[in-house]
Amino acid sequence: MTRDPDLQLERQIERIAGFLRDAGSVTVLTGAGVSAESGIPTFRDAQTGLWAKYDPMELATPQAFARDPSLVTRWYDERRRKCAECKPNPGHLALAWLQDALEGAGKGFTLITQNVDRLHQEAGSRDPLELHGSLWVWRCTSCGDEREERQVPFPEHPPRCECGGMRRPAVVWFGEALPEPVLAAAWRAAEGCGLFMSLGTSSLVEPAASLGRVAAAGGARTVEINPRETPLSPRVDVSVRGATGELLPVILSVLEQVAP
Ligand code: OAD
Repeated sequence: MTRDPDLQLERQIERIAGFLRDAGSVTVLTGAGVSAESGIPTFRDAQTGLWAKYDPMELATPQAFARDPSLVTRWYDERRRKCAECKPNPGHLALAWLQDALEGAGKGFTLITQNVDRLHQEAGSRDPLELHGSLWVWRCTSCGDEREERQVPFPEHPPRCECGGMRRPAVVWFGEALPEPVLAAAWRAAEGCGLFMSLGTSSLVEPAASLGRVAAAGGARTVEINPRETPLSPRVDVSVRGATGELLPVILSVLEQVAP
């Protein structure tokens, strides 16, 4: 094992490109770290930024919404305003390119995201599995009507449905279950893939944090990209210390050279 960090990184990149070339299907899980280079604070980093002013347990829960719907929707509106200023970064664009390349070669590709900013879709990724919902989709708490709302900011808080009911963000709050069909599809995509990539997530929040283990149990090669060590790092084939916005484009450029 070389002690030269640059050579080690180069070898890791070549191994990952080889995994991508050889895999019949690829499943990718992304977390807030993939959007960090777009300017959106992550959850753990954001403890000093976006969330520092608020105790998440005071806002991202059904109880908080019941107690003060206006405060909760104003806080989410502030996150929508921030996200509206942000654009996909090279990491998002690389994943959209990868989906095109793999599906164009008749291979399988599934993108699972914990992110609620929809920057993957804006970058061109198709049909990502949104495990934790989306900041842009709002649901009426009375009639259940759900639609994407891009107007920023909302004219009133909480925003209202035509039926008069209050609308809430269609994101998974602490203590709420994940959407069952989405979770089942994510589980299947992890179990059946040849390569699983965990990108920009602290691997702390279940059930998303178990997907890497499920993939490995199914015989998949496993890869992680994160500037920091996570609980998943010791259990993957290749764990690269770095930023997805920098490393994913490099990996794909090597893949273009090695792909048959
Ligand atoms: P976290 O904030 O927990 O973790 C973000 C991860 O991204 C950290 O491990 C950082 O080291 C890493 N990171 C930062 N910059 C990066 C970069 N440029 N490239 C790659 N990685 C980078 O965010 P998540 O893991 O997404 O759930 O959090 C998972 C869930 O916890 C969220 O979906 C949310 C929260 O509770 C709900 O809201 C239901």
